[in-house]
Amino acid sequence: MGYRDAAQEFYKEAALTPQAGLCCVTGQARFLAGLIIPNVMQEMNYGCGTTVHFGDLRPEETILYIGVGGGLEALQFAYFTRRPQAVIAVDKVPEMLDKARENFNLAAKMNDWFQSDFVQLVHGDALSLPVEDKSVDVAAQNCLFNIFEQADLAQALAEMHRVLKPGGRLYISDPITPQPIPEHLRSDERLRAMCLSGALTYQEYLDKVIGAGFGRIEIRARRPFRVLDKERYGLAEHILLESIDLVAYKNPASAGGARVFAGETLIYFGKERLRDEEGFIIPRDVPHPVCQKTAAYFRKLNRHDVVVTAPTYHYNGPGGGCC
Ligand SMILES: C[S@@+](CC[C@H](N)C(=O)[O-])C[C@H]1O[C@@H](n2cnc3c(N)ncnc32)[C@H](O)[C@@H]1O
Repeated sequence: MGYRDAAQEFYKEAALTPQAGLCCVTGQARFLAGLIIPNVMQEMNYGCGTTVHFGDLRPEETILYIGVGGGLEALQFAYFTRRPQAVIAVDKVPEMLDKARENFNLAAKMNDWFQSDFVQLVHGDALSLPVEDKSVDVAAQNCLFNIFEQADLAQALAEMHRVLKPGGRLYISDPITPQPIPEHLRSDERLRAMCLSGALTYQEYLDKVIGAGFGRIEIRARRPFRVLDKERYGLAEHILLESIDLVAYKNPASAGGARVFAGETLIYFGKERLRDEEGFIIPRDVPHPVCQKTAAYFRKLNRHDVVVTAPTYHYNGPGGGCC
């Protein structure tokens, strides 16, 4: 059995017998006024981090969600769109789709505002999406892409890029690792399916997203996720996995390449007009979010009238940035 089949077998079990904390998080979903989340959806939160960034979403948008799981995030997206078929949720595992359908019916009984047809459930594969080119505003996946081997990951990202409208946004949440995970763990299909051994490093992960053609990336969160401890996993030292949440924009990259906003801020307090490496004016005496390239440019200049803060990896939403 290849690793893809092993993952599908794993999630078939996870659909038939929901297990809290099976692969990813156990915390409560964030509170949204008027949204009641059925317990079973909470138990089936098989994601890490979140792809639902409340401040970004607009009701007229069409949202594609890949790897529906128990339906928690698709329900949260539907909270913002509130119309039939506005959220399209794709999954490869028929038992998971059946369970999600059951969960949406339950959610409809518990929430006056929600109808189960607000989410259209579709059988399909992340590697070959059953969705038209340039047809969705938002695409999202939580904790599926890390399971993929690298060629499949590139294909899955290319598919997301294909189906997004120009300017559309890709929201992803996945584990990352501080160092390459040894081969004996990477090739363990069950650990991979559990989101424990397929992770890439931060830079490798970003390079994959940029390589798929996304021109602007915002790192929205980076948090501790799991420890692969040396005794249990046969390692020389413990590995602390993190989860990363990011949004990638289907915009062309600028001449200097894709821009990554990781929460670095520049404050300029000099007298004359200041421009960045691409000629954009930097305002004086205000905190100015900058991408990693601009931050590196000013760090190298080492000016006495510029302060550049370290990345927080919690960039505060769209609208900021000079580049
Ligand atoms: C780790 S779970 C995440 C579920 C959900 N995103 C969440 O956050 O709770 C992975 C999901 O992807 C589905 N899946 C596995 N392989 C897939 C594939 N090749 N294409 C689409 N979905 C797939 C599984 O059935 C499962 O629902």
